[in-house]
Amino acid sequence: MAERKESAKKDVLTDHMYDGIMEYDNPTPGWWHLIWFGTIVFSALYILVYHLSPMVPSHQQTVATAMRKEMQEKFGEIAKLPMGDEKMLLLMGSEDWLKMGRTIFQNKCVICHGPEGAGFVGPNLTDDKYKNVRKLEDIYTVVRDGAGNGQMPAQKTVLNDSQIAVVAAYVASLRGQNKPSVKELPEEVPIDPWPAKPAAAPAESQGAGGSGA
Ligand code: HEC
Repeated sequence: MAERKESAKKDVLTDHMYDGIMEYDNPTPGWWHLIWFGTIVFSALYILVYHLSPMVPSHQQTVATAMRKEMQEKFGEIAKLPMGDEKMLLLMGSEDWLKMGRTIFQNKCVICHGPEGAGFVGPNLTDDKYKNVRKLEDIYTVVRDGAGNGQMPAQKTVLNDSQIAVVAAYVASLRGQNKPSVKELPEEVPIDPWPAKPAAAPAESQGAGGSGA
């Protein structure tokens, strides 16, 4: 009881009342000030550490680094394989690689070969007729080094070797779709079909087609 009286002495009521509620005219407590100043110090440190210092990478940098690492790991598997029919067929047999090839195609090639590869400035890539291509690997070479005196621009300065291989595999997979040609070259001739998939292909992502040879 005595304690109560003691504190009541310090508490001075203000003279206003709302809905029957009155308040003391006390200063804000120390702990409240501490938290308030704490948030100010924290915000200053936050700006310094996260925005102004290179100590902590930004969110964008973290994402970019993670993506680069993932790409490298992914490409690591195929970068070791020498270019050739086998590698092209391996890429063509994988949904994941074809998806990546499609993305590259959409970014770099549709402007000349059309969204479906049926041609525009460059020729139709969905039929059986080619000018610079006789075997599967030639697609990779044409994309890497260009063709037609630079009308088909070389991609080796724009894409890395694995990206070229992947987009080449995607282009090879367009063959047979036979989209109505938007553009054909007079020099195009029908070529042999792509080689069959190796009989002992590792059963990765494909269901067995069952074409025994
Ligand atoms: C600036 C326009 C342009 C761009 C961009 C372009 N191409 Fe071409 N492409 C051409 C032209 C033109 C030809 C025909 C070259 C010739 O006359 O020999 C061609 C030919 C080709 C051929 C050979 C076709 C044949 O019948 O010999 C392939 C394969 C090919 N391009 C794939 C690609 C891929 C993949 C990309 C994207 C990485 C790409 N091209 C980007 C214009 C382009």
